Amino acid sequence: MTGVEVKVDGLSKSFGRANIWSDVTLTLPPGEVSVLLGPSGTGKSVFLKTLIGLLKPEQGSILIHDTDLVKCSESRLYELRKLFGVLFQDGALFGSMTLYDNIAFPLREHTKKSEAQVRDIVLEKIDLVGLGGDEGKLPGEISGGMRKRAGLARALVLDPEIILFDEPDSGLDPVRTAYLNQLIIDLNAQTDSTFLIVTHDINTAQTIPDNIGLLYRKHLAMFGPREQLLTSEEPVVAQFLNGRREGPIGMSEEKDSAQAEREMAEAGDLAGLPPLKPQLQASTGMPDRQAVHRRRERVEAMLHTLPEPAQRAIRESYSESDGSQWGPSQDGGTREVARERVTAGAASPAPPTDDRPTDVHPRVTDDDGPPNGRHQLSEGDR
Ligand SMILES: Nc1ncnc2c1ncn2[C@@H]1O[C@H](COP(=O)(O)OP(=O)(O)OP(=O)(O)O)[C@@H](O)[C@H]1O
Ligand SMILES: [Mg+2]
Repeated sequence: MTGVEVKVDGLSKSFGRANIWSDVTLTLPPGEVSVLLGPSGTGKSVFLKTLIGLLKPEQGSILIHDTDLVKCSESRLYELRKLFGVLFQDGALFGSMTLYDNIAFPLREHTKKSEAQVRDIVLEKIDLVGLGGDEGKLPGEISGGMRKRAGLARALVLDPEIILFDEPDSGLDPVRTAYLNQLIIDLNAQTDSTFLIVTHDINTAQTIPDNIGLLYRKHLAMFGPREQLLTSEEPVVAQFLNGRREGPIGMSEEKDSAQAEREMAEAGDLAGLPPLKPQLQASTGMPDRQAVHRRRERVEAMLHTLPEPAQRAIRESYSESDGSQWGPSQDGGTREVARERVTAGAASPAPPTDDRPTDVHPRVTDDDGPPNGRHQLSEGDR
């Protein structure tokens, strides 16, 4: 089963007279992981809510399975929503329900499953996000990071084909963020679902998605495969993906352009192209991630349209990843995951012999061996 394509065309959204963004056009490639970036307040959360039909845009279309979600009937919208799993920015748990009931809610609401079946699914997802044993607690009794993970479990409970996560990593410490990222890649390898993730975490943006989009100045500045964005010399894209202070984005979101040009000239090497960071790989035992192959085909077809330095950097990254099983040998996200585990005191028996941790998959199947994702995700987070 390949994920669902989401085709957004010419979308514009305002609240009263305040325009949030205009003319947003992008296609979320089916079964791939995409990330949406942008300064605070540019309307990323509004975009996610528009995608699931909670907010109505003034213009444009959102095509899913040939249905325009903007114009379709309420009953069709209700059906289409079942394809989605959504984690809202604030978690949006019901405060008076236990974590178990919160996570069971979509199953009870949207399916006719028996309570025994609901229980199996809920406990599986609770385990997946490392909350085993906490299912009887109320949202007010647990930490912010735990609420976030309960929200994740609820988003996954219907086995959605389109998964929208609004800042799943905010409020999580770096180790849990690394595990969350591994979980996303592993889920995608297993389900081939379509992901759109909003994040402010640069490491996540550089190492997780197949595609990256950037909302800026009320428009979609760019959307494309990671190779294209990570090698882009477009100042705002380069600034955002490298977390630089120099560039057009300032604390007040938009700087005076003369100041921005001055800073960029001083920064000098802004356009220099460092090697592409390798993408995080699925854990050992996971199926081959089909998204990687589909994306690479797309990149190869568009390669000749990119600037020469970008073409060179992309070719180099491909030849390195083809030469070694786990990608380039320079420091990258996967190694960082491994390092974070070690520094956090995870009982990693020995440093990985290649660039990839072998035991980070958060699913739990047995009790022997080194600590697994359940322990990693849950210990100390209370
Ligand atoms: N229901 C609403 N009614 C009116 N204005 C809204 C509504 N929801 C959001 N906005 C406005 O839309 C703009 C974009 O908000 P949004 O929450 O999408 O930003 P964001 O990019 O997600 O920011 P952050 O990174 O801080 O989460 C803000 O100015 C916000 O005040
Ligand atoms: Mg937001």
